[in-house]
Amino acid sequence: MTYRQKFFELKNLNNKYLNLTAIKTLLVDNGNYKDFFDLLNHFDDEIKDANKLNSQIEKITYGEPLQYVLGYAYFVNSNYIVTKDVLIPRQETEQLAVGVLTQIIKLFGKSPKITIIDIGTGSGILGIYLKEYFPKSRVICTDISDKCLKISEKNAKLHNVEVELRQGDMLAPIMDENNIDVIVSNPPYILDESTVDPQTLKYEPHLALFANPDTKYYEEILTSIDKQLLNDQKFIIAFEIGEDMKDRLTNIIESKYPNIMYRFEKDIYGKDRFLYIVKNEELTDALN
Ligand SMILES: C[S@@+](CC[C@H](N)C(=O)[O-])C[C@H]1O[C@@H](n2cnc3c(N)ncnc32)[C@H](O)[C@@H]1O
Repeated sequence: MTYRQKFFELKNLNNKYLNLTAIKTLLVDNGNYKDFFDLLNHFDDEIKDANKLNSQIEKITYGEPLQYVLGYAYFVNSNYIVTKDVLIPRQETEQLAVGVLTQIIKLFGKSPKITIIDIGTGSGILGIYLKEYFPKSRVICTDISDKCLKISEKNAKLHNVEVELRQGDMLAPIMDENNIDVIVSNPPYILDESTVDPQTLKYEPHLALFANPDTKYYEEILTSIDKQLLNDQKFIIAFEIGEDMKDRLTNIIESKYPNIMYRFEKDIYGKDRFLYIVKNEELTDALN
């Protein structure tokens, strides 16, 4: 069977999980083509590995997420390995990655030699992305799950970067540090299972999703972080947050860090989904 025949056969299945993006991605992946346009140039070629493709299609039609079936996910500008042990990277996290990158450049310059901590690293995407941009920096990726750290180790190798991997609960793995410049994190923040879509609930690791109370991990980081751990001149703490947390997190910041600069940023849907806290002894408008 050719790719053209398979393409129309799959379209005609009208399976809700097997949408156009999934069909194109599976066929491109099967033929190891660069992209869909490359596939179109080979549309009348025989499918290279029909058994593999059919088994992938079966999993997708039963609801398994495309990224788990393929074994990788696209994040910002490249692919990362994902398995069911790690969360599939989200679009919001791409915005956090680019947002913290921009903030780092503003505060520390384009080629900083700083210490960056990614707490709850999952597949390693945030830490690895930042290490690629700031190769002189030291990046420590932590997670409570050993299984996640194994995947982040593979991703660091795939991206040809060296990051330190440490297992443990929130701040525990970095308590021996004393000059942290950047903390970035998107910890679990979902309180109620009923708000999660059934496919996510069935396939993605619950350890990556749920927190009770929902602000638990932000509070833990913001209230337990010792001044000794942070650079005393400049630092950035950047979070992806739940959409209704702005007021509660504002209260914590105002009581814990009087006079610090902080800013909430909206996602593409206009919801407050990111928080940047910046200390800068040299400037007063680091966030502007
Ligand atoms: C929302 S996921 C984010 C993963 C990754 N940063 C990403 O965006 O794909 C949260 C991560 O925090 C980890 N985690 C959960 N509880 C933790 C804890 N108490 N301490 C450290 N990491 C934790 C989970 O294993 C998961 O990898």
